[in-house]
Amino acid sequence: MIRLAATVLVLSLLAVDGREIPDDLIRLPSEASRFFNSGGGADDDGDDSVGTRWAVLIAGSNGYWNYRHQADVCHAYQLLKKGGLKDENIIVFMYDDIAQNEENPRPGIIINSPHGDDVYKGVPKDYTGENVTVNNFFSVILGNKTALTGGSGKVVDSGPTDHIFIFYSDHGGPGVLGMPTSPFLYANDLIDVLKKKHASGTYKSMVFYLEACESGSIFEGLLPKGLNIYATTAANAEESSWGTYCPGEDPSPPEEYETCLGDLYSVAWMEDSDTKNLRTETLRQQYELVKMRTANGNSAYGSHVMQFGDLQLSKEDLFLYMGTNPANDNYSFVNDNFLLPPSKAVNQRDADLLHFWDKFRKAPEGSPRKLEAQKQFVEAMSHRMHIDNSMKMVGKLLFGIEKGPEVLNTVRPSGQPLVDDWDCLKTLSQYGMKHMRSVANICNAGIQKEQMAEASAQACITIPSGHWSSLHKGFSA
Ligand SMILES: *[C@@H]1O[C@H](CO)[C@@H](O)[C@H](O)[C@H]1NC(C)=O
Ligand SMILES: *[C@@H]1O[C@H](CO)[C@@H](O)[C@H](O)[C@H]1NC(C)=O
Ligand SMILES: *[C@@H]1O[C@H](CO)[C@@H](O)[C@H](O)[C@H]1NC(C)=O
Repeated sequence: MIRLAATVLVLSLLAVDGREIPDDLIRLPSEASRFFNSGGGADDDGDDSVGTRWAVLIAGSNGYWNYRHQADVCHAYQLLKKGGLKDENIIVFMYDDIAQNEENPRPGIIINSPHGDDVYKGVPKDYTGENVTVNNFFSVILGNKTALTGGSGKVVDSGPTDHIFIFYSDHGGPGVLGMPTSPFLYANDLIDVLKKKHASGTYKSMVFYLEACESGSIFEGLLPKGLNIYATTAANAEESSWGTYCPGEDPSPPEEYETCLGDLYSVAWMEDSDTKNLRTETLRQQYELVKMRTANGNSAYGSHVMQFGDLQLSKEDLFLYMGTNPANDNYSFVNDNFLLPPSKAVNQRDADLLHFWDKFRKAPEGSPRKLEAQKQFVEAMSHRMHIDNSMKMVGKLLFGIEKGPEVLNTVRPSGQPLVDDWDCLKTLSQYGMKHMRSVANICNAGIQKEQMAEASAQACITIPSGHWSSLHKGFSA
């Protein structure tokens, strides 16, 4: 209904302008653009003399089946670079195991959309491999060089008039974000770092874009107002976020790709920023567009984009954080998202299974590759089932057959943090991100470590030490 109304509005505005409407491109006349631009553009100081733009870009996963997170981050680098940010001010964290991966059909190249250009070329390798750690991420934000372990040494060495943009793309769970190394990143630690950064007086304002499952739980009830931080997340605190451009979906990647190329929220903001004059679009306007696209026609293949922190910052233009590509100077804000049909998408947590399945499907009958794909699929599935069942069992042992599932699945009212005792949550993190809410509820019920250990022992739980184990992978999703 809303979609229809908006489309009619757009069309009638165009009719007033009396211009031809090209098939695939509808642009608003500038008056109409201002009409949509309610309250926006007010802070458009339109010059570069207002401090330095800094960016921290991080993909928290590794493995070819997680291609999309590093593709997102490489794409973000390209767009900021075109926007005029300097390499010395863009700090990139990525495991860097995709471009040269033996599964990559185009060696040395990474794409983030089916017909997209290479986004890998020129990306700075500041923190790669084992150097992609929580400690380094925090130290980079804080500008603390002495706290770094490995990497290029580049940090956000910002001053009081500077603007900082952080983009994180990965798996996540209630209260946690993934890392390709151990440990996970916990929401309360991130918030502490942001508070510290604010206390150091080394930025004017900060924007945080976050793609992950349950990403709303990272800020909900935790990010205070007054830090001059505006954050948006791909999902609310209780739902998955979605991969996009996945094999077998529409639109799908080129046939030879057996993996998703991007994530729905990430691609939504970047494909918007890629084409616009960012002096004429506010954060708020982008939030609305991205929210609409990521909801995916309110289908089952979408999530609820959320915003947190100092919402009044959303009146600022994207230009302040992302610069703008001079080639887009004539492309002002448009509501062209209304014209995108909903696309198919894949739950972040199923993207690995999809990769193995697609590999299996395409491999020649009887080939070693087919056998390998089958084995990988079965291993990933059985790891999941084992952990899921163990968690259910622990719940029943602690709270009883009837109440167990209820306690584990409880969701606190919105605005409240997931858990009060973060140390408790961390201690029990071996169940993986997906079960963080259950673990949080166990902590909130005041269960002691010893009781938990006993229940785990009774449930005969051994966290498998195989390939998918959270004991090895920071990101067991
Ligand atoms: C930087 O990190 C080091 C090592 O963790 C710490 O001792 C020092 O206090 C930090 N410096 C600042 C300014 O926070
Ligand atoms: C980690 O950083 C160190 C120090 O810069 C570097 O020597 C090492 O090669 C890096 N490791 C990876 C995997 O990039
Ligand atoms: C924008 O439009 C003006 C006027 O039509 C034109 O001179 C200019 O080259 C265009 N700029 C870009 C980047 O396309």
